[in-house]
Amino acid sequence: MSNKAPLRPEPVASEHIPLKARNVAFDWAGTPLHWVPGDPSTTHTINVLHLLLPAGERWFVHVYKQVLPYIRDERLRADVIGFIGQEAMHSQAHDDVLPHLKKQGLDPTPYTAQVDWLFEKLLGDRTLPPGRARHWWLLERVALIAAIEHYTAFLGDWVLNAEALDAKGADATMLDLLRWHGAEEVEHRSVAFDLFLHLDGGYRRRARTWATAFAALVFLWQRGVRFFMANDPTLLDGKASFKEFFRAGRQGVLPTTGAVARTIPQYLHRTYHPSQYGSTSQAAAYLAASPAATAAESRTSPGAA
Ligand SMILES: [Fe+2]
Ligand SMILES: [Fe+2]
Repeated sequence: MSNKAPLRPEPVASEHIPLKARNVAFDWAGTPLHWVPGDPSTTHTINVLHLLLPAGERWFVHVYKQVLPYIRDERLRADVIGFIGQEAMHSQAHDDVLPHLKKQGLDPTPYTAQVDWLFEKLLGDRTLPPGRARHWWLLERVALIAAIEHYTAFLGDWVLNAEALDAKGADATMLDLLRWHGAEEVEHRSVAFDLFLHLDGGYRRRARTWATAFAALVFLWQRGVRFFMANDPTLLDGKASFKEFFRAGRQGVLPTTGAVARTIPQYLHRTYHPSQYGSTSQAAAYLAASPAATAAESRTSPGAA
């Protein structure tokens, strides 16, 4: 018999904190179309978040509300409720950017209509009979969300550390949106994975849903960048290119291909747990200084400041 312990996810307990939603608001009036100055390609690569997240995070909330009755751990239930509150706010905040893009001549509706269809219909509540099939579909979506959250946590950690965006003069309001959101993604980065472990945790499901989520994200992202570049009214012949993506990675204004590639063995490692990556204290420090988060705080508790 082997003495080796089975390889299991290894959480870092000190990275856990209670979650709360922050009721932020942003004023987009002063944000230019190319909010990373002189770099439409980087601007639009990051802008894809505004196309995917409103419907995507609404879908997280929709699925998690169905899952709540199956949670038999009080701390996890509190985490999931905190997660739902934060994701609902994220979805709203990114949705609020879309009218601003439209005013600047970039109507996102043709793309967002497809994304809405993907999350509401393809990934929605299929008309399955009660019982095993319906439960299977719920577990499949819980695992998909855990895989997607691996990437929101990766991006959150990246943007908190992306000093090259500041150096390049990126718009302060957009950076605050991205970093407030990124910091909350880092704060709640373990919730979706813990929920998956609680309800199922099977390795084959983890690997299968990761492959689906990764392929879908790459497909939707490159399509979104092409859509923005082709429809940007200030670009004569706007095209998305991998060359630009590699260039932006080298400059530090987008994640590098190497960093994206490293997320794969991380997630697929048997001992992986999201708390092993990113820093809760860095996220908390950003939220304590974020203009939007501190304004939200003083609105909810005016005497606290
Ligand atoms: Fe989010
Ligand atoms: Fe999230």
